Amino acid sequence: MRKDVPLSIQTIFSVREIQAEADRLRSAGKRIGVVPTMGYLHEGHLSLIRRAKELADVVITTIFVNPTQFSVGEDFESYPRDLDADNLRAGEAGADVVFCPDRREMYPEGYLTYVEVETVTSILEGAFRPTHFRGVTTVVAKLFGLTKPHVAVFGQKDAQQAFVVRKMVSDLNMDVEIHVEPTVREPDGLAMSSRNVYLNRAERTAAASLYAALIFAEKQIQDGERSVEKLSGEMKKMISDAGATAIDYIACVEPDTFTPVEAIHPPRILILLAVRFGATRLIDNISVTFS
Ligand code: PAF
Repeated sequence: MRKDVPLSIQTIFSVREIQAEADRLRSAGKRIGVVPTMGYLHEGHLSLIRRAKELADVVITTIFVNPTQFSVGEDFESYPRDLDADNLRAGEAGADVVFCPDRREMYPEGYLTYVEVETVTSILEGAFRPTHFRGVTTVVAKLFGLTKPHVAVFGQKDAQQAFVVRKMVSDLNMDVEIHVEPTVREPDGLAMSSRNVYLNRAERTAAASLYAALIFAEKQIQDGERSVEKLSGEMKKMISDAGATAIDYIACVEPDTFTPVEAIHPPRILILLAVRFGATRLIDNISVTFS
């Protein structure tokens, strides 16, 4: 580990050690906050760590590129990793513990147990990544079991993930408060994501069209547009004209149930999209409140 990592941060690699640390913290009456991540931390992750620090006495950031949420042919192997920089950034943002488990400890030989939320996991992201949410809920359930948090903080950029995690927590009566924090954006509006590093210059420029299209849709809704077909058609044109390679989906859902709608009704709608620029697949969303 680099020498400039804050001295106060504790890096834990083993399952037994994190369980012991979580038990110790709980016995000492500390409120534990967890921020699950796959590392390569950017300002979006750091905002979650800062928020967790406001909500808890001790913040555990987990860094684990979780193989079970990637399908064959996805970017598990090439997913960006930089543990030294992550330790430094997490510590500066207020994390007290960084937990980076080994893949073989999380999923030992003969591993057979998965947590699955039904129905909502087969639309949108789930339609394009059929095993993705099963991997997410399994690892999040395991991370909650290991770190024993009172509160966990997730990002709104992965809106469907946040919905699915909340559903798992509610259905399985997990005693963890879930907080979902706003997306952090680059100056041109692109949502921060570890995968943005994959974009070449032209793709990076084109990717700004995602937020431009979401803002355009928000304005249209505020001005009275209620047809999802019309809105998504116009958004598709903006994004295609900017240079997208493929648009996986643009959809509007009712935020409390995540049910896709064809006509937009007040008071709130969530617009989500997934778009490819070259080989890079990006997701984003906007919540629109209107009357
Ligand atoms: O959002 C992510 O980075 C991951 O899906 C999560 C929640 C850390 C689970 O691996």
